[in-house]
Amino acid sequence: MFTIPDFKAAKQAGRRIAMLTCYDVSTAAILEEAGIDAVLVGDSVAMVVHGQPSTTTATLDMLEAHVRAVRNGAPNLCVVADMPFLTTRRGLREGVDAAATLIRAGANAVKIEGITGHEELIPALVGGGVPVMGHLGLLPQSVNVLGGYAKQGKLDSEAERILGEAVRLEELGCFAMVLECIPAKLAGRIQAAVSIPTIGIGAGPSCDGQILVSNDLLGLTAGYVPAFAKRYLNAHDLFRQAFGQYIAEVRDSSFPPVGGKTAKGEIEQAMEAETKAR
Ligand code: KIV
Repeated sequence: MFTIPDFKAAKQAGRRIAMLTCYDVSTAAILEEAGIDAVLVGDSVAMVVHGQPSTTTATLDMLEAHVRAVRNGAPNLCVVADMPFLTTRRGLREGVDAAATLIRAGANAVKIEGITGHEELIPALVGGGVPVMGHLGLLPQSVNVLGGYAKQGKLDSEAERILGEAVRLEELGCFAMVLECIPAKLAGRIQAAVSIPTIGIGAGPSCDGQILVSNDLLGLTAGYVPAFAKRYLNAHDLFRQAFGQYIAEVRDSSFPPVGGKTAKGEIEQAMEAETKAR
């Protein structure tokens, strides 16, 4: 199992870290089998799974339920969970309680967006045994302040601020940080400036690792998909084909087969055999 200390060791060894988002039991089991290093139960679950317009509607209850599902599917996988919108802004105690909820649900670490206002919470969590992943650049929880999901750090002043924040996140005790939607050149400067790994999404190739939203990679996302999110599969069409075939077979009575071997038929036969044997 890839562990939290393995993040830093991977950077030191020059080994790239592969992460994906994950929200459910089946995908978690497949990702563990595929050998992913770690998964993020992101607050993007609100948009990807619940169809909400932004991550600001993600709640602690929502994240807790999805962390449980992921842990149930992948008992040995390194799981990072997002601290949902404003859970870090209600004082130290509430922030610590929210992190505890996610860790008890099965997460190994939490991720916190941004640094302003978190200078006390991050060391408190790390000191208490909760590894913290930082997140800089585009902060989707601030979409209403930003007015959209535009690339961040394009101006020199912004780039210098983000670089300074990255250095500070390491000082505060973060074990890694996500860099979202920033220029590749800035991501390269940050990667060189900090000794903890940078995990990029829309931040170019020089990050120490990469993360994507699984549904984008699988071709399951309906609607807008960012240009940097490479699609490895057209699951939408595969699912539609399978569903369409099932619908057609029910309607033309070719499923279930008459006297044929269905999964249910086999179970019934096994139960009958067991009853006879008693
Ligand atoms: O919630 C999420 O999916 C994220 C990734 C975009 C890094 O934070």
